[in-house]
Amino acid sequence: MSVLSLLAKCRVVITFNQGLRGGRVMELKKIVDEAVKHCPTVQRVLVAHRTDNKVHMGDLDVPLEQEMAKEDPVCVPESMGSEDVLFMLYTSGSTGMPKGIVHTQAGYLLYAALTHKLVFDHRPGDIFGCVADIGWITGHSYVVYGPLCNGATSVLFESTPVYPNAGRYWETVERLKINQFYGAPTAVRLLLKYGDAWVKKYDRSSLRTLGSVGEPINCEAWEWLHRVVGDSRCTLVDTWWQTETGGICIAPRPSEEGAEILPGMAMRPFFGIVPVLMDEKGSVVEGSNVSGALCISQAWPGMARTIYGDHQRFVDAYFKAYPGYYFTGDGAHGTEGGYYQITGRMDDVINISGHRLGTAEIEDAIADHPAVPESAVIGYPHDIKGEGECPREELLPDC
Ligand code: WT7
Repeated sequence: MSVLSLLAKCRVVITFNQGLRGGRVMELKKIVDEAVKHCPTVQRVLVAHRTDNKVHMGDLDVPLEQEMAKEDPVCVPESMGSEDVLFMLYTSGSTGMPKGIVHTQAGYLLYAALTHKLVFDHRPGDIFGCVADIGWITGHSYVVYGPLCNGATSVLFESTPVYPNAGRYWETVERLKINQFYGAPTAVRLLLKYGDAWVKKYDRSSLRTLGSVGEPINCEAWEWLHRVVGDSRCTLVDTWWQTETGGICIAPRPSEEGAEILPGMAMRPFFGIVPVLMDEKGSVVEGSNVSGALCISQAWPGMARTIYGDHQRFVDAYFKAYPGYYFTGDGAHGTEGGYYQITGRMDDVINISGHRLGTAEIEDAIADHPAVPESAVIGYPHDIKGEGECPREELLPDC
């Protein structure tokens, strides 16, 4: 965190005194204190209270609730320019430091709102349940900005899907009458191992749409989500997108007449998204039943505008491999009728439980240890996480 705050020149940090996750207490404030020592630009740390435990409060620290109580409850909105920065999120690439992806006001908000409404069939009065962490792009676009732009009720989920037990998601669905449930395949793969009883125990009749995001959803997970969680009556949308795209770019269109929704397939570009597949020579692959590097050939409202502080890196990372096109880093297979199947990353990025990690960054961290002259990090298939990181003994060659 420290190095990223340093790059971003943050002035204010907002944290809890402690966090709670899966029955464990996380010392968030202590972690922030450590990081802030290395960030001379930080002037204030606002500390909200999640637990009743007292934490050390230093010169920069401000108790958030106490400070807010002094303020007027009405805050006049600030008008912003359409291309002003809305937020930045760090994400990993195949080389170098994590990239501070910048999203701006109007385009991002429009795209988040529109995709939220149309991909999930969100209607006025519906309760939207995206169980992703707010701290990554899925939480930004589909817990906060998309639903709130549409005046929706959005559920904030904390902790893990198996705490206090494997019925946590479905108990939440029953209690809050969630209409759209959006989560990651890694959680589905974990939950299906606990058996159907945890799901069936709860009333899921409010559910209309189930969404999957972050990594390829394998057939077993897709089928379980559809048949067991959705009682074979909910629409399941597997949604492909990235931190850089701001919102969903490729997903099934269930409302389309004759649309087929099959596991791992039947994904269509969202309105305004024009995907193309490229061959190794950098030419567009025409026709159906073809594979290639997935690029997008025209700008769309939600696309990232730059990498914070390094626009040239933005150009190099996304627009250099195939001049004139945005390169996603993923491979895809295109079928008849304009359907796409994502085949996975084509670069040195691995996907662990939907978390995007650059192998180069892990290698850098390992190389910091004085006993390690050189290292190589690769992903390997993992039943629940999709891919696993770090060398495991059983995977190391006998040498
Ligand atoms: C990478 C983006 C999408 C927001 C959360 C992750 C992979 C994402 C799918 C999907 C297959 C997927 C891609 C992409 N990915 N969704 N439905 N099927 N792969 O955002 O951390 O920026 O990662 O996640 O490889 O490039 P991210």
